[in-house]
Amino acid sequence: MDQALPATIPDLPAIQALAAPDMAAIDALVRRRLASDVVLINQVAEHIVTAGGKRLRPMLVALAGRACGGAGPEHHQLAAIVEFIHTSTLLHDDVVDESDLRRGRRTANAIWGNAASVLVGDFLYSRSFQLMVELDCMEVMRVLADTTNRIAEGEVLQLLHVRNPDVDEAAYLGVIERKTAVLFAAGTRLGALASGAGAQIQQALHDYGLQLGYAFQIADDVLDYSADAGELGKNLGDDLAEGKATLPLIHAMAQAGASTRDRLRGIVEQGDADAMGEVMAAIHASGSLDYSRARAREFAAAAVAALARLPDNAAVAALRGLARHAVERRS
Ligand code: IPE
Ligand code: IPE
Ligand code: MG
Ligand code: MG
Repeated sequence: MDQALPATIPDLPAIQALAAPDMAAIDALVRRRLASDVVLINQVAEHIVTAGGKRLRPMLVALAGRACGGAGPEHHQLAAIVEFIHTSTLLHDDVVDESDLRRGRRTANAIWGNAASVLVGDFLYSRSFQLMVELDCMEVMRVLADTTNRIAEGEVLQLLHVRNPDVDEAAYLGVIERKTAVLFAAGTRLGALASGAGAQIQQALHDYGLQLGYAFQIADDVLDYSADAGELGKNLGDDLAEGKATLPLIHAMAQAGASTRDRLRGIVEQGDADAMGEVMAAIHASGSLDYSRARAREFAAAAVAALARLPDNAAVAALRGLARHAVERRS
């Protein structure tokens, strides 16, 4: 365990207990605001929302609010907005990645097809804008407009990197900042804003969320090579099958000898899912999963360091706990 992440911080059940009243309110709000007169929208949206998911982003909004004095209805609305944005990106992502398992269920694209998934994703996205406008706060709209724009950039950037073996760690970090970390950062910043926190505290919680987002996505990319699929609720190997070089494979390509490197580059160029065994062997030989986990821990430690700018309380401790959980999780 990294020194910056002490062992005495709360575990996930304790964190969940602290956030439980907020999470119940947020869940009720999310379900209520899913509703549409169009039956297919309800079917698809309920399929993915009732499958659960970790609800990490809304929990971050609530905990950031509590870290700054308390969470109330505005936090719950912001949390629902962030979860709607997240869910819409998942509907779109599973189409792009041609994934057929998510949250332990068949994906919406596998059941209803790509068109329905994209369009219901758009519905959830625009529903999040409706919820935003209800808050009638230009700063909230500015943060979320910038964030959703960056997420879209990240998805397109990632598309440009598909089957490109020259993607290095810096380019990879540029993608995951946009596609994942900025939404975490927006959630924690807005949690602070809704509690009336000043600019410096908002910035500290933004920095925490951003670093946590990097850690979380690197951990996700490690799990794509190493998890138990049943526990993860997603298929393994989706990234390789798509020709997406994530940190474990990027590290292996950089570390391997010339012949293995050339072979790995060819596999990325072809998006060759059948070469999973070969890729795993190269990743193990280069210690690339351990390297990636260590990088994730560095980002988690940076997230924890950002919290030192806040007065300590139970919610701040819970945020520290989530930083550890993000890199130790198995699903
Ligand atoms: C999946 O996010 C997409 C990534 C950024 C890796 P989560 O792992 O938070 O997905 P759910 O909401 O728990 O299903
Ligand atoms: C996360 O990347 C994409 C989003 C931010 C929506 P992944 O493609 O790795 O996410 P999973 O593994 O499918 O959840
Ligand atoms: Mg995916
Ligand atoms: Mg993934």
